[in-house]
Amino acid sequence: MAALGEDLLKVVNKLQDLVFNTIGNDSLDLPQIVVVGSQSSGKSSVLENIVGRDFLPRGSGIVTRRPLILQLINLPSDRNDKPNDDEVHIPHTPAAVAGQDEWGEFNHMPGRRFYDFQEVKREIEAETNRIAGANKGINRQPINLKIYSPHVLSLTLVDLPGLTKVPIGDQPTDIEKQTRNLITEYIAKPNSIILAVSPANVDIVNSEALKLARHVDAVGRRTIGVLTKLDLMDHGTNALDILSGRVYPLKLGFIGVVNRSQQDIQGNKSMSDALAAEREFFRTHPAYRNIAPRCGTQYLAKTLNQTLMQHIRERLPDIKARLNTLMGQTQQELASYGTDTFTGKEHRGSLLLQLMTRFATSFISSIDGTSSEIST
Ligand code: GDP
Ligand code: NA
Ligand code: MG
Repeated sequence: MAALGEDLLKVVNKLQDLVFNTIGNDSLDLPQIVVVGSQSSGKSSVLENIVGRDFLPRGSGIVTRRPLILQLINLPSDRNDKPNDDEVHIPHTPAAVAGQDEWGEFNHMPGRRFYDFQEVKREIEAETNRIAGANKGINRQPINLKIYSPHVLSLTLVDLPGLTKVPIGDQPTDIEKQTRNLITEYIAKPNSIILAVSPANVDIVNSEALKLARHVDAVGRRTIGVLTKLDLMDHGTNALDILSGRVYPLKLGFIGVVNRSQQDIQGNKSMSDALAAEREFFRTHPAYRNIAPRCGTQYLAKTLNQTLMQHIRERLPDIKARLNTLMGQTQQELASYGTDTFTGKEHRGSLLLQLMTRFATSFISSIDGTSSEIST
């Protein structure tokens, strides 16, 4: 489960640990990645590819009917059985005994660990039906799923119901408006990276994803255009103009992908086979072979890595400033203790803090590319 690069994973997790241990909260404030688009455009498929694991319900109909807030939580591999010392987890499956190192946990079922990702998928379906009904209804109450793994970046991903124009089943007459409001709520946050998913076999000028994204990100600063279903375009047509940025301007650009088809899913085509087939598609396609290195799921993951790294660099000055303040406070505290309390517990605590702060600062400087030491 490591579609987001290992290097990024290492740097961010180390930084996250340091910041957490010194400043005491998650000041890294990593963006959440939100997928938007019309029904069946391939949103859930794209999200799954980013995570690198097969666990989301997908299909040709209205499948995602509640927001899914997916929190990936990195577990250091040496204490992967203890996500939190205060929580007591009761393993429910024999797999826990076998020592598997990644699992899912739902907010609505605290303490129950899902080691089988097919079971995660079934629980999402069951929980969707429980609140949104079995008849195509949509509900704004999110499903919260945490995935604990040593192979993920601690990051939040949000899968949302797609836009539909015409109400069906139990959907209210204003379904389109309701869904639009729901999506806007998630992508309006300045900290959201919007993955605007449009299927290549529908005219891009009609893309609901881009309309929604433009509404909250007018200059296209935090929107990545994702063009799915390139394999389903009419014979003799291609999306080269869009992928080259000549049709619709987005600072982060458009990336074409080929996800698994419904037939692939039914035939249990593996993620790695699908990725290989996708690479082959771009490498051999007469229209795309020249831009093949900038196409596909792997490139999308790489672009996300870069976007996240950029975000972290932007956060560093603030983190540094906070560390500075913290150091100043620690020094003052130390001074106020005087010299005769040298063995005191508090004193050792603040020495530790000071050491950690120094360590954090030099680590941050190393990512930052500057050598500025903290001033005290
Ligand atoms: P969502 O409703 O936007 O979440 O879309 P899904 O990810 O559930 O996909 C809808 C359907 O389109 C599924 O049957 C997928 O297998 C299929 N699909 C998604 N992306 C592609 C693609 O790039 N190529 C092909 N052939 N099918 C795709
Ligand atoms: Na769907
Ligand atoms: Mg979906």
